[in-house]
Amino acid sequence: MKFKYEVEKKDHRDFSSGRVLINAPQTPAFPVRIASEIMSRCLSYINSNDCISIYDPCCGGAHLLTVIGFLYREKIERVYGTEIDIKAVGYAKRNLNLLTSNGLFQRKKNILQNYNKFGKVSHLEALQSVKRLISTTLDSNHIKDIQCLDWDITSSKPPVFRNINIVITDLPYGNMAIWKGTKNMNPIEQMLKNVYYTLDLNNAVVSIICDKNQKVEHEWFEQVKRLKHGKRQFTFLRPVKY
Ligand SMILES: C[S@@+](CC[C@H](N)C(=O)[O-])C[C@H]1O[C@@H](n2cnc3c(N)ncnc32)[C@H](O)[C@@H]1O
Repeated sequence: MKFKYEVEKKDHRDFSSGRVLINAPQTPAFPVRIASEIMSRCLSYINSNDCISIYDPCCGGAHLLTVIGFLYREKIERVYGTEIDIKAVGYAKRNLNLLTSNGLFQRKKNILQNYNKFGKVSHLEALQSVKRLISTTLDSNHIKDIQCLDWDITSSKPPVFRNINIVITDLPYGNMAIWKGTKNMNPIEQMLKNVYYTLDLNNAVVSIICDKNQKVEHEWFEQVKRLKHGKRQFTFLRPVKY
């Protein structure tokens, strides 16, 4: 993949996992530059003049979702996640709470307490990051609704969210994350079916990140674009209206 939107490498250390954002064990953090490139491409496939909604069906600790929430807060009104691992859901809720001013100020207080108690350089760096995040987000946050549910996206029941404009998800693959839940022959197909019911069929795009060996398709979707980057592939799908 050639970067089209995130042409320049930027300093994304404020979003490092374990600094301000909380590190969820066993859930890999996603590279910020790639996340932003995918999100920009998603926005280019929909009408993004109005405030939009975003959903990650396999959100893990919501590192990806929270980073996108911060970077695109002026565009996003609703942020949703689902995840099968109840412990990861706990971390995801804590991370997504950072998208609210209360949550961010609370995190600053907590980092400051740690710095006063232990005086570590890492706490000082986290404090500088949280201050930067506060100063850049306070006046431009349009996010009104944030929810994260414990949900098996390969089950036969779609989650309750509706009128979603952008789905972005990093599927389980590799050593750190595997498909869990309903023993389904084709978890990606069942996930896409469930996701379909959550979409605004007039204005939606689904972007799936996974390894190159997985087949990402379902008859209810048409492929808009497929890109390869290192060990990953990114597939952009548009729902077909029946
Ligand atoms: C690659 S990780 C996602 C990491 C996430 N993007 C983040 O930033 O933290 C994939 C996640 O899918 C979850 N998962 C596996 N099977 C699932 C299922 N049936 N329904 C929902 N989530 C599932 C795993 O528990 C794991 O947290």
